Amino acid sequence: MSDNSFGRSLVMVSFGESHGEVVGVLIEGIPPGTVIEEKRINEWLSRRKPNASVASTKRKEEDTVEILSGVYRGKATGAPLVAIVRNKGSVDEFYEFAEQGWVRPGHADYPAYVKYKGFNDPRGGGRFSARITVGFVIAGAIAEKILEPLNIEVVGYTKSVGSVECPDLELETAKKRYNYETRCPSPDYDSLIKEEMLKAKKDGDSLGGKIRIMTGNLPVGLGQPVFSSIDSELAKAYFSIPAVKGVEIGAGFSASKLRGSQNNDPYVIKNGVITTLTNNAGGVLGGMTNGQPLIATIAFKPVSSIYKPQRTVNVKEMKEGILQLKGFHDVCVVPRAVPIAEALTYFVLADMAIRGGFISER
Ligand SMILES: Cc1cc2nc3c(=O)[nH]c(=O)nc-3n(C[C@H](O)[C@H](O)[C@H](O)COP(=O)(O)O)c2cc1C
Repeated sequence: MSDNSFGRSLVMVSFGESHGEVVGVLIEGIPPGTVIEEKRINEWLSRRKPNASVASTKRKEEDTVEILSGVYRGKATGAPLVAIVRNKGSVDEFYEFAEQGWVRPGHADYPAYVKYKGFNDPRGGGRFSARITVGFVIAGAIAEKILEPLNIEVVGYTKSVGSVECPDLELETAKKRYNYETRCPSPDYDSLIKEEMLKAKKDGDSLGGKIRIMTGNLPVGLGQPVFSSIDSELAKAYFSIPAVKGVEIGAGFSASKLRGSQNNDPYVIKNGVITTLTNNAGGVLGGMTNGQPLIATIAFKPVSSIYKPQRTVNVKEMKEGILQLKGFHDVCVVPRAVPIAEALTYFVLADMAIRGGFISER
């Protein structure tokens, strides 16, 4: 396994840089015969591109997938699938500061410069740009198709931005997320979040927030304990999204404050099916799905690229200075990260479904 690959039976290899020729993904292990529709992949991609909302950058990311191999007559052949998106609309002049050696506080510039001895592509954050998540989304769109026989649903929504937190939503309500600019499918909280973002935007600042992931129709037993438990694989996937700083499953950190009698989910039988009365476990016990909805919460930091002047250093000239950024940056990446988190959830579930024999490899 290389450092840029993820998954075992279903494997994705991520490649590309922000201002390079392309970003993309190589996928191995797609069951032959899986229907691959560019139209469906492009629908997924259009959910992650910056939109006109207050949250997003004015940067243009008109992403259209090109499949270079692994598909014949609309179906996966079983050979490696390579899919790319050409980078358009990137403006190198905004990154002169990076060429000169100025590093952005809170971004990957400094450790990347040291680790790669100054040879890393600094334009637009290079390999550390969220552009690389285009490949994650392509892989997720294909994973969704692989999982179709199991009827598994994955739905994410914006749970919070800054200090505004939407109450927990039901799966059916959450499904309307893409009707809202903020991806928070509550008219009240959609407005409150927009206000919160506008305030930060006026200040030339940025905001963090949280995404809630929910799933429906999971079978019992997805996950390969111990090191490939479903929660550890999901956490690894989520932490590969730029700006993610925390992942919780079910009650998460708050479970540490509960007593066992409060945290345990009592079992009952409803219409002949074993179920639980509560879901503090977030659908995961012993690293396996337990048949309840899998619930994850992903915390994002406020993005580092802000328009306020910032104190920093020039690594080439070894001097201190003040950095004033130009260019297009997101006030808050959470709305755009919803499809990215959903895509990685589908990918992990598909890999686990193949590994666990829920879906046949061939
Ligand atoms: C959808 C998305 C868009 C992002 N856009 C920006 C951006 O415009 N400016 C920025 O500084 N960081 C942005 N980021 C975050 C950086 O890529 C990230 O903070 C950086 O690579 C450092 O990694 P780390 O925050 O995980 O440590 C974005 C992240 C996501 C998920």
